[in-house]
Order: sequence, then structure tokens, then C-alpha cells
Amino acid sequence: MIVVSCSHGAHLGRKIAKLLHKSHSSLSVDKFPDGELRVRLDCDIEGKEIALVQSFYKDVSDCIVEVILAARTAKELGAKKIVLIAPYFPYMRQDKRFHKGEAVSQRIIASLFDKYFDAVYIMDPHLHREDKLWHIFRVKAEKLTANHLIAGYIKSNVKNPVIIGPDEESYKWASNVAGMLGAESRILMKKRYSSYRVKVTLNKKLDLNRKNIVIVDDIISTGHTILETAKELRKLGARTIYCVCVHGIFANDALGKLRKAGIKVISTNTIPSKFAKIDVSALIASSLK
Ligand code: R5P
Repeated sequence: MIVVSCSHGAHLGRKIAKLLHKSHSSLSVDKFPDGELRVRLDCDIEGKEIALVQSFYKDVSDCIVEVILAARTAKELGAKKIVLIAPYFPYMRQDKRFHKGEAVSQRIIASLFDKYFDAVYIMDPHLHREDKLWHIFRVKAEKLTANHLIAGYIKSNVKNPVIIGPDEESYKWASNVAGMLGAESRILMKKRYSSYRVKVTLNKKLDLNRKNIVIVDDIISTGHTILETAKELRKLGARTIYCVCVHGIFANDALGKLRKAGIKVISTNTIPSKFAKIDVSALIASSLK
């Protein structure tokens, strides 16, 4: 196997290759003046298994085009098997037609990957109405989770934690992590009005006496889900609030807003940032063995 780091995958690709004792190569990617991408595989492909590592953040559409160009090229150059390792895989939240005429992006994007890959490995995909990754993809699709790493981080860094899930969808992370820690947990209710406007409510009593609050969720994008959750918890007298997520997208000024609200943010390194304190490389490597 050759592990190939794509433009948004090098922060994990190298480590994964090293842990697996496999060779590593970087995909060369540049942009023509008109915005089109040019990609080049710099390793010998014929007869090899190729694992492309790409985390789909920031320039999401370019990230998608890039790996499709790379996968198709690997096929043309005789790769035996082509797998995608996606520390963060996008478009999973649009899993139904919320408004008339809207694309159900989850399935459409998955079908693109079905065409070019033999298998996909995705870290904590946002699955809600459709719970099974293998119902979304036709090729082998494996879901990996950082829940035990998140639980381990909380155990080592936060005393007396009470785990909060900000919405019904977060139970897969919050309740599971709480279970691993033997900690109390609560799942709040969220209503989303727009990308930046959400309302979060706690409709069950919660005693925060001598407890440290840890909000656990899969994604922080605009940060508004966490900001509203913190606002609700502050009403109960919460002081220190931690938030641990898998995928720190931190769109626009999310981090500035979270910091201003006094929330201590920690994420895994599926997306690199200075808050990415939980390393998922060994977990990904072991799933590929
Ligand atoms: C959705 O249900 C996800 O689990 C996150 O709660 C959501 O994506 C966070 O988005 P934002 O940070 O923009 O509120």
C-alpha cells in the first residue's frame, strides 16, 4: 500500500504511513489561473493499493474534485485498489430535502465516490436519519469513531464532568462518551432557523453543583450550536464550560466567538488547528491493517 496525502491530508497521511510501515507520497496539486486544478501522482502506481488521505474542509468542492482526479488517474495507471481515508467527510448533514427543490447532497456526493473508489473510511460521519454508512455508499464504507479518544481526553483533563449533547443528533457522541466515563449526561433540544440562528433548550433539570460541563458534539461549524448551549447552561450557573468535538471546522469567526464566550474548545485533528489536541492517526492506521 502507498499512502498518498492529498492537499488537506498531509497532517495525518505521513503519520498513518509511518504507523503502518508503508511508503508515503504527496499528491502534487496546483491551480491554473482560471481556478481549475491540476493534480499529479508522484509515485509508482501500477499493481499497488493506493490510500488517498483527504480531509474535506475549507475549499470543500476543490477537495472533492482533487481526489476524484487522483483516484481516476490511479486507476488509469494500473492501481490494484483505491481507498479513500477521509478524516472529515462533507455533505453528510444534507440527508433529506429540507426545502422544496433542494438537492439531497448526501447521496449524490456519496455516489461520486462509489464511482472512483473501492472503499472509503470515514471518521465520525454525521449520520442522522440514515444511520448506516453502507446504506449511503455502494462500495465498502467503514465508519471510524474517536469517541474513546474523546472520553480518554476528558478523563485525563476534566474532573467531575457532566456531558452535554447540544441536540438530538449529538447523542451518538455525547451519550456514548458519557457511558465510557460513567458520567452523567443530558441531551438538549435544538431548533435551527438558519446557518447562524439556532435555539437550544434544556427541558430537564440538571444539578451542576461541583460539576464541570463538557459539551460533546461531532462538528463545530459556525459555533452557534455551542454558543447557544453555553448560554442555556450559564442560566443554571455554569462557569467553566469545555467543548470537545471531533471535527473543528470553525467557519468564519467561530473561534473568536467561542473564546469571547469563555468556552474552552478542544477537537481531534481530523481537521488541523491549534485546538486539535486529540490525535486520530493511530486509530485510522489500525483500521487499515
Ligand atoms: C449538527 O447537528 C451537528 O451535529 C452540529 O451540531 C452542527 O453542525 C454545528 O453547527 P454550527 O457550529 O454551525 O452550529
